Formats: sequence, C-alpha cells, structure tokens
Amino acid sequence: MRYEAQGVALEENWEKMVMTKEPRWALITGASSGIGAELARVFAGRGYSLVLTARRHERLEALGAEIGQAHGVPVEVVALDLEDRQAPQDLHELLLERKIAVHTLVNNAGFGLRGYFASLPHEKQLAMIDLNVTALTSLCRLMLPGMIERRRGGILNVASIAAFQAGPSMAVYYATKAFVLSLSEALHDEAKPHGVTVTALCPGPTESEFGKTAGPKGTGLFKGGAMSAAEVARAGIEGYEARRAIVIPGAGNRIGAVAAKFAPRFMSRRIAGLLQGMR
Ligand SMILES: NC(=O)c1ccc[n+]([C@@H]2O[C@H](COP(=O)([O-])OP(=O)(O)OC[C@H]3O[C@@H](n4cnc5c(N)ncnc54)[C@H](OP(=O)(O)O)[C@@H]3O)[C@@H](O)[C@H]2O)c1
Repeated sequence: MRYEAQGVALEENWEKMVMTKEPRWALITGASSGIGAELARVFAGRGYSLVLTARRHERLEALGAEIGQAHGVPVEVVALDLEDRQAPQDLHELLLERKIAVHTLVNNAGFGLRGYFASLPHEKQLAMIDLNVTALTSLCRLMLPGMIERRRGGILNVASIAAFQAGPSMAVYYATKAFVLSLSEALHDEAKPHGVTVTALCPGPTESEFGKTAGPKGTGLFKGGAMSAAEVARAGIEGYEARRAIVIPGAGNRIGAVAAKFAPRFMSRRIAGLLQGMR
C-alpha cells in the first residue's frame, strides 16, 4: 500500500481545518478511471477533501494534482488492491492514524466479466466477488459506526441496473450488484434514524474502462447509447445529497428497472441475457 499527501503537509492542514471548519472527507474507491474519477471531480467541486484509492498509483497522482489545482481541496492518494482481504482494514487504520474521519464513503471500485459461468476463469470470478462484494461490505462495516457516532455523512455504493434482474452471460457480476443494492437499501433504513445516508447508485451502460475487462461493448446494452461517466457521477451525488436510497441515472434506465420489477422473472432475465449477447 502506498500513501502520499498531495501538496500540503497533512498534520498542518488538519490542524488548520479543525480550527476553521470541520472538513468533509470523501473516500472514493476505484478513482483512477471512469465513474470514480468523475465522482472525485464532482465531490471536489462541492468542497469535499478527498482520499482517492485504486491500484494505479500514477493515475491517482495525476488526478489528485488536477483536482487540487482546480478546486484547492486537499487530496490524499492511497494505492491499494481491494481484492486483498486485509486492504480495507489497513486503509481504515491508516486513516485513523492520519486523523481523517471519513464523512462520505464511496464504494465504486468494481469490475465485470462477460461469458458463460461454466467457462469463465474461476479465480477471476472469485476475485470479482472479493472486490464487488467483500471489500465493499468491509469498508461499510469499518466506516459506518464512526458516521453513526458523529451523526453525519454517509455511504454511496455503486451498484448497477444489473442489480434488478438475473444476468445470463454475466451471471456473477449481476449477482454481486444485486447484493450491493440489497445491502445498501437495508443500511439506508438502519442508518437513517442516526442522520446518516446510505445510497445505492445504479447506472446503466456508461462510458468508462469497464468494457476493457468485461467486454460488453457492442452488446445490445451499449448499442442503446451509454451515458457519460460525468453525468452518472453528478446524478449519484445529487441523489446522495438528497438522501435518496436508490439513484438510477437516465430515464431509459429507470424505465428498464421498473419494467424488470413488473415483468415475469423468466422474461426479464431472458431480455438481460439477450442484451449481454447470449444466443
Ligand atoms: N461502465 C458501466 O457501464 C457501469 C454500469 C453500471 C455500474 N458500473 C459500476 O461502476 C463502477 C465503476 O466502474 P467504471 O465503469 O467506472 O469502470 P472502470 O473505468 O474500469 O473503473 C473501475 C475502477 O475500479 C478500480 N479497481 C478495479 N479493480 C480494483 C482492485 N482490485 N482494487 C482496487 N481498485 C480496483 C480501477 O482502478 P485500478 O485498475 O487502477 O485498480 C478503476 O478505478 C463499478 O463498480 C462498476 O461495476 C459500471
């Protein structure tokens, strides 16, 4: 795990901010590209201080420098692999050591794999569960008690419209996102009485590097038109700040989610499979 402060000495900075106004730190996972990088830009524009994590350190450093310059907020960069089960705990301890109380946790890091369950590499499928499910759950468990104690802040979990039905040809990915949506909705109700918000952001097809790993470009879903990562990030943050439980950016995606709810289950999973290129 590599840790670096951008621009200013953290201790000095922390004391200055405690004396003036309590900072709002947003911890964003998967900030090195796509939706995560745009979430970082939008949170910074709203005055949040940032902790950015992902594996690609140089990407994070470049984004941190850009954001620090554009918005004048402190940006911390931590390079880590969240498929490692110890990583969330290490990150939590590092932040405690640095006196960074996370106001908003953004669990965005994730990837998908397209292909049949029985033929995709088993290790990669388990790694997807480690990242999309296990790391996300650990970070929620580590950060939520502090938010409840302080009675402020919350969690923005990036799920997907994949959460609303089963997905033949992307079976494990759809299942991980159903988990994220279900967990987030339950936590929304548990945390609400304590003044803490938990929101599930459920994007549809979005321009990012997602397709490089998952390979869904060219399938029916992406042919229907993808939203920009910036649009998705804005919608997510607006919904989170409005204390909503679920945010689905884009009218077409909202219609799809409602249709999946009311259609017979065999029909919605068949359509999802066709859109994922299943024959
Ligand atoms: N794009 C879409 O169509 C779409 C639709 C619905 C939901 N989503 C969800 O949106 C989220 C962001 O994806 P994206 O579309 O922005 O894709 P992306 O551009 O590929 O971004 C994924 C991010 O996750 C990070 N990441 C991947 N593996 C990691 C690991 N082992 N440890 C730590 N970080 C890791 C990547 O950084 P490094 O490679 O530097 O580690 C990157 O910053 C994901 O949860 C995805 O499931 C995407």
